[in-house]
Order: sequence, then C-alpha cells, then structure tokens
Amino acid sequence: METNPPKRRDNKKSLRVKVISLGNAEVGKSCIIKRYCEKRFVPKYLATIGIDYGVTKVQVRDREIKVNIFDMAGHPFFYEVRNEFYKDSQGVLLVYDVGLRESFDALDSWLGEMKQEMGSQANMDSIVFIVCANKVVMSLLLESVQRVPLLETSAQSGEGINEMFQVRTHTHSLSRSLRTQKVVLSATCLSSLRRSSLSMAFTKEQADTIRRIRNSKDSWDMLGVKPGATRWEEVNKAYRKLAVLLHPDKCVAPAAKMPSRVGTLAHLC
Ligand code: GTP
Ligand code: MG
Repeated sequence: METNPPKRRDNKKSLRVKVISLGNAEVGKSCIIKRYCEKRFVPKYLATIGIDYGVTKVQVRDREIKVNIFDMAGHPFFYEVRNEFYKDSQGVLLVYDVGLRESFDALDSWLGEMKQEMGSQANMDSIVFIVCANKVVMSLLLESVQRVPLLETSAQSGEGINEMFQVRTHTHSLSRSLRTQKVVLSATCLSSLRRSSLSMAFTKEQADTIRRIRNSKDSWDMLGVKPGATRWEEVNKAYRKLAVLLHPDKCVAPAAKMPSRVGTLAHLC
C-alpha cells in the first residue's frame, strides 16, 4: 500500500536579530532607524528618553529576518535605563555626526560602556559592528579601513540607510558569511579609522570652523565678529575668509555649506 510521504515541516522560520544603536545625543540614531523602518525623516529633534524600539522585516534569499532595533538614548542622563539593553545584541550601529568630531571620538567610550555592561565573560567577537557616519550632505563614500565597514548615511535623504542594514542582515542570516564577513571593531582599528577618515575628509581648521558655525548663537557669532558689528569691511572680510575656507571646491567636509543667513548678513552690511 502506498503511503503519503510525511509532510516536510517548514523549517524556514523567520530569524530574529537584535540590533542596538549607540552614539552621542543628536547624532541621528533615531532618525536612521525611523528612515529604515518607517521610510520617513523627522527634522525636529526629539531626544530619545531612555530607549526606543523599532522593528522591520527583511527578506534575505528565502529567509525572512525580523530586525529588532533598540535605539539607545545618547544623553548620559539615561545610562541607568539603556544599560539593561546591551545584552544579547547581535549587531551594533555606532553612529556619529560627520560635522562633529567629538561625536566620532566618543565612539571609544560607547564601546567601553558596552563592554562594561556585557561583563568580562561576554564574547564581543560574535557581534557585528558598523560605524555609521551620519548627516552626510554629499556623496563621499570612504573606503573601509581594516575590515571595519564605514557607511555614510543621511537619515534626511535616505542615502546609505538600506545598504547599512543589508550588511547587517546578510552577515547574520548566513552562518558561513557570518564567519567570513564578521567585522569586529577594536580600539586600534577605530583610531586608524579616525585618522584616515578624518584626514581624507577635512582639515582641522575646517572642522573647527564648521563646529563653531553650528554652535553659534547668531550670525555675528557665525562670522566670528563682534556682536552687532555693522562695518562693511569687517563683516565682508570675515565672510570672505569663511567662504574661501569652506568653499565646496576646497572643502569636502560634508557639513561645510555656508549658512544662508551669514550670507544675508554680509550682503546687508
Ligand atoms: P538622542 O535620542 O538624544 O540620543 O539623539 P539621536 O542620536 O537619536 O538624534 P535624532 O535622530 O533625534 O536626530 C537629531 C537631530 O539631527 C534631529 O534634528 C534630526 O532631524 C537631525 N538629523 C538626523 N539625521 C540627519 C541627517 O542625515 N541629516 C540632517 N541634516 N539632519 C539629520
Ligand atoms: Mg534618539
């Protein structure tokens, strides 16, 4: 008598991946996650309170992967809340703002915090780390350095966001790839990355000027002249100096766009 062969159980269950985002406050972690999960950009800064959560499904070959993203608050104030969420992470997005060098330098201490919370027994080698240079305004794809993928993203335009998560989900879904493509970020690696990426991108003077402009209180402060200065020569000279320093032909720093209100001030005087 012919018997029906037992039905093969579908063992292609969807996989779950836990990803966390780390980096200073305001570097754009939540925006990257919103852009990836909800395909939208939020221009207004709404600080994450403790932890936020996003989930999305991706298909890698014949496997569905559920990507659970725990978005950490960057503000030191929320340490007590976020420290609970480091455990069992399989992927880490280390995010910095391309216009703020200190946000890049801070990645070392974010890794330090993670190591501390995972405990001495934790195996960091099995975790996939990706450094994400966010807020790029022009296409400037830097080469990976020492096996660490540096991906440039703009949560605003969506540039690089899907590619970043593809690296992660591919490496996680295929165990062989996981072994071969896994990238572990070490402190040495990070400092060489720091040297090469920053020196390729802009000079210290340009970076310092961009930071000063971004943190300026008003247009005079932006130009670096006395508050209320109205002398045409003084304002025009300061404006020209900045224009030369940050001209797009000379300065490839992504945030080096001269704010329009500075130009307006220079032209009004
Ligand atoms: P915390 O939750 O405090 O840790 O900050 P965060 O890192 O989650 O920053 P968030 O995503 O809230 O973004 C901070 C600010 O940067 C917001 O005003 C965003 O609109 C802005 N921003 C984020 N990504 C980009 C980007 O790619 N380009 C530009 N121009 N602005 C961005
Ligand atoms: Mg946030």
